[in-house]
Amino acid sequence: MTKQPKYGPQAAAALFASGTSAQAPPEGTVAQDTQSLAQASSIPPPVTLALVERGHERHDIFCKPCHGASGAGDGTIVARGFPPPPPYWDARVAAATPAHLFDVITHGYGVMYPYAERIPPADRWAIVAYVRALEVAHAQGAPDVQPPAGSHGGR
Ligand code: HEC
Repeated sequence: MTKQPKYGPQAAAALFASGTSAQAPPEGTVAQDTQSLAQASSIPPPVTLALVERGHERHDIFCKPCHGASGAGDGTIVARGFPPPPPYWDARVAAATPAHLFDVITHGYGVMYPYAERIPPADRWAIVAYVRALEVAHAQGAPDVQPPAGSHGGR
């Protein structure tokens, strides 16, 4: 089994006209998840408490290190010298559409990295809902949004 005539990945291959074992997919090939990913990206789910809670959890994993727990842009990475992001309630960010925020997570923005590979579309929408919740909390004068004791930690 271990010894058999075969081509390894990206090996030279005399068998094919292209001379390589890596064959291009037939024209018009669509990856299995292309359509479902595009659909999940274009249709925001209804905002529910469960969605916002999921967004809170994902935000604390992926965004809090720079944007801070409250969204003020004062996360630990910023404290160590990374360029500070604007607070989520910066007039331009607060006025941006949910689709723009989704797009920022997907493709990155300026020095912020893209998260398309790490955060699936459904979770991107959940995070967008939570960012909006942080904006509302700030507008209402909440000093910080502290999760209940025993959950996944403050800042
Ligand atoms: C490594 C640090 C870092 C992480 C992690 C990070 N960001 Fe950012 N983000 C930034 C910086 C810095 C900017 C400002 C970029 C610029 O203007 O060049 C920014 C900008 C933004 C903006 C403003 C975009 C605009 O139109 O002005 C939003 C919204 C945002 N980030 C959301 C998020 C969300 C949501 C996450 C988590 C999925 C996240 N960021 C993760 C550093 C980060």
